[in-house]
Amino acid sequence: MKKTVLILCLPLLFAFASYFKSNSNEKPQLLREPYLQMVREKTATITWKTDATAKNCRVEIHKENSSKTIVKEGTLTLHENNRFNEVVFDKLKPNTKYYYSIYSNGYKLAAGENYYFITNPKGKKTAFSFYALGDIGAKLPHSFADKPALVIKKLETQPNFGLGLGDIVYSKGESKFYDKQLFEPFQEVFKNIPFYPVPGNHDWYSDPEKNFEKEWSLPNNEHFYSFSYSNALFIGLDSSKGEFYHYEKQLEWLKETLKNNKDKYDWTVVYLHHNGKTCSYKPNYESVISIYKVLASNNVDLVLNGHAHTYERLKPYDGLGDIDPSQTNHTNYNKQDEKFISITVGAGGKLNKKWTPDPENEKNCKDGSIVAHYEHVPSFALISIDQNTLKFEGINSLNGERFDGFTITK
Ligand SMILES: [Fe+2]
Repeated sequence: MKKTVLILCLPLLFAFASYFKSNSNEKPQLLREPYLQMVREKTATITWKTDATAKNCRVEIHKENSSKTIVKEGTLTLHENNRFNEVVFDKLKPNTKYYYSIYSNGYKLAAGENYYFITNPKGKKTAFSFYALGDIGAKLPHSFADKPALVIKKLETQPNFGLGLGDIVYSKGESKFYDKQLFEPFQEVFKNIPFYPVPGNHDWYSDPEKNFEKEWSLPNNEHFYSFSYSNALFIGLDSSKGEFYHYEKQLEWLKETLKNNKDKYDWTVVYLHHNGKTCSYKPNYESVISIYKVLASNNVDLVLNGHAHTYERLKPYDGLGDIDPSQTNHTNYNKQDEKFISITVGAGGKLNKKWTPDPENEKNCKDGSIVAHYEHVPSFALISIDQNTLKFEGINSLNGERFDGFTITK
């Protein structure tokens, strides 16, 4: 009789146990350290990933040298059986350092002196710097994505943000590889420095809506967008698998964005995954060359891309992609109207040991006539802007040494 009662009660006991479990305040497991996005003058987005037990989340922040705390509740999104915990702050003070603590289900999951962000400055007078690299989260164990992250973290002046030049995670941009291949090697950088990536061809091998777009909070439609920092405008484009995502629509948006911001900023930087002209092992991409005219006629200064796993700095172009022969000093440029400089920074976490130049390019580039500097090393770019001067540096990710550099003065 006792046995029968027990058997009959078992389902009830299981139901009760699972009800209790789902309503108890379990401590969620932190699966991804917090990362910063959309940091502006008054806003900041802080995201971290936990297991699915997270039922609520919040972030507490306080200004440097102040104990006054601001608390903000966040939202939870289920993705591949885990949860993104995301808190968006507004009404912050510009140019201010805030320390943050993250909580899920009321448990403090991360806090301390390494968890902070700095809001953007107001106005256009502040000097600043940013890093850029493409082709980052390669498959382990061959990835060296941890190397640029270590060097960036040790820079004398911390960059204000980072640009991701596509092929963010290999080999198909799948969410399930983001932690091991990108967020773990970059976690110490991402927790203090906001990151603005654009998708590359490898990120397009899986549906970006279910992968890339889930991982990031970016402006506009998350494929092509713009933002500003101090006296510079940044435009990220989605060159998809080499033919641009919604080409016509994106081109219209690009023209409109450049027109609307005409004369508002001293510097304009465009970044995307694919190269236009190149002497590397990749072919020339006609779709990218087709936007040169728009870039040149709207006074774009710098175009950054990835794709070829190498570093290749080209001489100043005009709107047809023709090199300016009058500029022979490739260390200091005086900005000329309707000319821009295009640079491949595609050895972020991946380097092809053996490659041969694209046969067509080899013919065209025999004398290296379009290349100002080339270096086949793990690398990233560091760009500093101070009023009318832009300083560009190519940095070796293995030893932190600068191997290339130039300035543009206006
Ligand atoms: Fe690529």
